[in-house]
Amino acid sequence: MRFSKNIVSLVPSATLAISARAKQMRAAGESVIDLSAGEPSFPTPEPGIEAGIDYVRSGKAGYPPTPGIQALREAVASYVSETTAHAQVEPANVLISAGVKQALFNASFCLFESGDEVLVPAPYWPTYQATIELAKATPVVVPTEWEDGFRIDIEALERLRSPNTRGLLLNSPSNPSGEVYDRDLMAEVSAWAAANGIWIISDEIYRRLYYEGDSAPSIYDVPHEPGRVVHLDGISKAFSMPGWRIGYAVAPEEVVKKMSALQSQTTSGAAGPSQAAAAAVLSSPQRDDIVRDFRDILRRRRDAAVDALSGVSALELRAPAGAIYLYVRLTETSDSMSVAEQLLVQEGVATIPGEPFGTPGFLRLNYSVSDEELAEGLSRIRTFFS
Ligand SMILES: Cc1ncc(COP(=O)(O)O)c(C=O)c1O
Repeated sequence: MRFSKNIVSLVPSATLAISARAKQMRAAGESVIDLSAGEPSFPTPEPGIEAGIDYVRSGKAGYPPTPGIQALREAVASYVSETTAHAQVEPANVLISAGVKQALFNASFCLFESGDEVLVPAPYWPTYQATIELAKATPVVVPTEWEDGFRIDIEALERLRSPNTRGLLLNSPSNPSGEVYDRDLMAEVSAWAAANGIWIISDEIYRRLYYEGDSAPSIYDVPHEPGRVVHLDGISKAFSMPGWRIGYAVAPEEVVKKMSALQSQTTSGAAGPSQAAAAAVLSSPQRDDIVRDFRDILRRRRDAAVDALSGVSALELRAPAGAIYLYVRLTETSDSMSVAEQLLVQEGVATIPGEPFGTPGFLRLNYSVSDEELAEGLSRIRTFFS
């Protein structure tokens, strides 16, 4: 069958594909521990459940406003303003989408076009490449080193900058590495981008899943050029609600209007019950307690995973400061694709190899699964490597 040039080179999400395969194997009766998916394991927080049910029971069946219901735009504006140092966010700066994925697509499609280059530090979440390419722009990978905690340095950015550089994608805490940019680095990068008229798209979906404080440094915690920043976040990770499909972009009002126009011609926006649930969670007096409770459990699981794998000579690892992943380095091979395949077939443990993240030779493990599954998965990994 002939497909359009728009999507011929589109690669389906590796994470979702491996996770789907693990589910299939499980359905076929195999004992599979799935450490591949990028989702936390907690149930929906109570205020979200109540508000979602109330919305459904109220019988409201109409289209919500395309940029999002007012209560949620207000809740996001307050949340971002309250939890960062320098954000001045009004509801008009907020666009609600069906997950950060849609918000990211909107931003890339509205800001980038053919001939534009967008800097993407490696290791990267593969969706950045895909969305930049769907906008016909060119992703330019910024290499980083495991030994330096995958920090980007300004010299590397400067070396790769060209007259066509239009954007920079930041993702701290990072998927897949869990590494976090400290405030100084965030400030340096922000100043560099502002000085060069470069858009920063800062995907901060793991911002609150930070183990060394209340929130990892945001682009809004450092001086920044508000006219050239898009901040992305949502409820999928910190509030463990990925299936509700709510994410948001905070951006200059003009950009929000354009993204909303795009959304009006694609999805008409996010589902009403999900928006009501997200508004209830983000404006709940328990909001920060919910995140803290999740984070405490995740920290314990992260430490258990690091302890369990530290003695394995084929692996090098450290405890990352954020997100829900261990990104372990294979010391004996860079062919992580084969290792992930063998690990799945021989031991029934699903992980994601480093190749789709632009850094072969690593495995990404999601430690946000139940304690029992994690213990069993780690034990099988130890067996495999011994
Ligand atoms: C870095 C990053 N950004 C965005 C997303 C997607 O978020 P959402 O579920 O809100 O679309 C993910 C999900 O894995 C992610 O890892």
